[in-house]
Amino acid sequence: MYILGLTTLGDSAAALIRDGELIAAAEEERFSRVKHHSGFPYRSIEFCLDYAGIKLSDIEHVGHYWKPWILRHKAMQAAKAALVSPAMFKARADRGVAQVSESYLGMFKHAKRLRERFGPGDFKFHYVEHHQSHAASAFFVSPFESAAILTWDGTGEDTTTLFCKGQGNKIKVLKRIKLPHSLGQFYSAVTNYIGFDMFAGDEWKVMGLAAYGKPRYYDFFRDKVLTTNGHGDFKFNIKVLDHHLAKHYQFPKGIIDEIGPERKRDEELTERHWDVACSAQKALEDTGLYLVEQIKDMTGEENLCMAGGVAFNSVMNGRIFHESPFRRFYVQPAAGDAGCSLGAAYYVWNQVLGKPRSFVMDHAYWGPAFSNEECRHALNEAGLKYETVADEVLLPRLAKMIADGAIVGWFNGRMELGPRALGARSFLADPRRSDMREILNHKVKLREWFRPLAPSMLEEYGNEVFGKEHHDPFMITVVAVAEEYKAKIPAVVHVDGSARPQMVSRKTNPRYWSLIDEFRKLTSIPMLLNTSFNVQEPIVCSPQDAINTFQNANFDALVLENNLVLRSAAV
Ligand SMILES: [Fe+2]
Repeated sequence: MYILGLTTLGDSAAALIRDGELIAAAEEERFSRVKHHSGFPYRSIEFCLDYAGIKLSDIEHVGHYWKPWILRHKAMQAAKAALVSPAMFKARADRGVAQVSESYLGMFKHAKRLRERFGPGDFKFHYVEHHQSHAASAFFVSPFESAAILTWDGTGEDTTTLFCKGQGNKIKVLKRIKLPHSLGQFYSAVTNYIGFDMFAGDEWKVMGLAAYGKPRYYDFFRDKVLTTNGHGDFKFNIKVLDHHLAKHYQFPKGIIDEIGPERKRDEELTERHWDVACSAQKALEDTGLYLVEQIKDMTGEENLCMAGGVAFNSVMNGRIFHESPFRRFYVQPAAGDAGCSLGAAYYVWNQVLGKPRSFVMDHAYWGPAFSNEECRHALNEAGLKYETVADEVLLPRLAKMIADGAIVGWFNGRMELGPRALGARSFLADPRRSDMREILNHKVKLREWFRPLAPSMLEEYGNEVFGKEHHDPFMITVVAVAEEYKAKIPAVVHVDGSARPQMVSRKTNPRYWSLIDEFRKLTSIPMLLNTSFNVQEPIVCSPQDAINTFQNANFDALVLENNLVLRSAAV
């Protein structure tokens, strides 16, 4: 039985499962080349069907990640906004009825859209609540028979935070927190306050900047903006900091009086902005830990699954991993809305149809792959000179090049699902070189100096590098590096002595594992610096995308499967 799962607004995506096994999943942005693509994921669906070699008529069920009929909160928001301030009301009104009807009412037409594009189909279309899609995306593919499940994001239909318990093939909702109380919207508002762009997904930048600041505004955020009570709830005070106003870069006097005016986009980043980022980040972490303790009390579980955009906050995740009472964790690598495509499909399979669980998602390689022949065809079309080299020779040679200072664009196997490059579409470099972060951020990726870079490491070396047990295959937690190790890998250690590792498994990515192992044999460092293979655009998907990036950016070598292009000899 084939089930298709869909995310159809921001970060749209499709996922395909067959008899409960994930077959294929990808984000639309990788095909359209538009970051955070919003809209029906035609190309992702086409990829999923082609990958499986099936037609729409083979699909029995479609799971959709949103219930479009829950619109009541929109009217409530508008009414509340009018009470708070005319400016806020205007901000809401500006979004327009047309957009709401296109975005939400348009979801009722998706079954028709599928048939119009992909031919006849006799599938049943299921609308799954957004947060239950997130919950399913984490728990049903986790290794746990039972677990507490916490999902948190900007908002779903009207829920922002969902507490669940998963047991076997069922998820039970225990509690929900609704708008306007949203950790995601709190963080997005801070993102815009610091002059970044919440629509561009700039929340990462706040977390990166936070490492440089001091929490001198922490009390303000915890007392006035993001408060918790004795009942396991949190409150986001939109009179002081409002996400919808922040979208328009408007900030109430209440916050400006306390922490100063917002930063305009072209203004210099100063220590005050670092401190605001640091304070807001700490407020988020402490609120997050508080909620995690609540769900521990509610469930008594040893295992915790997390999803939703807030679960991308790897610094908070690191604290949850090491400070919370839970013992084991699973964080969905596509924790944002793209992963809901997968979640909606599993919700139908397990929760609706009652089928048993049989699948664990232990890697993120669910996108398209390209053969050596396809790679060579693209290289020939581009007129680039290349060598085709077997792995036994290629991997040691690449390790040596990287150890000698080269930056390599590495294109290997099926593309990752989720925003992290995990060794399928990655830039690789030497983590020992202290100048490598600046070179990569400034000269290759053309982005801010404070963006941290992360290591991909052999999973067997966790204890040596961190001085304690830590396992994270998805680069989604930040953990302190052991004191004696910090000086060895300056390019991937944050200013506060932490790192965000991907622990690479020989089982799930043997070729990447072997490349890192070749680097270890040369240098005794069991890791490479890994950052996503893209420059100011979505991560590359096809050989053509990789070649375009190679031709327009400044890095030394391109590896398309077994085909090696050296810049010094490329044309
Ligand atoms: Fe979400």
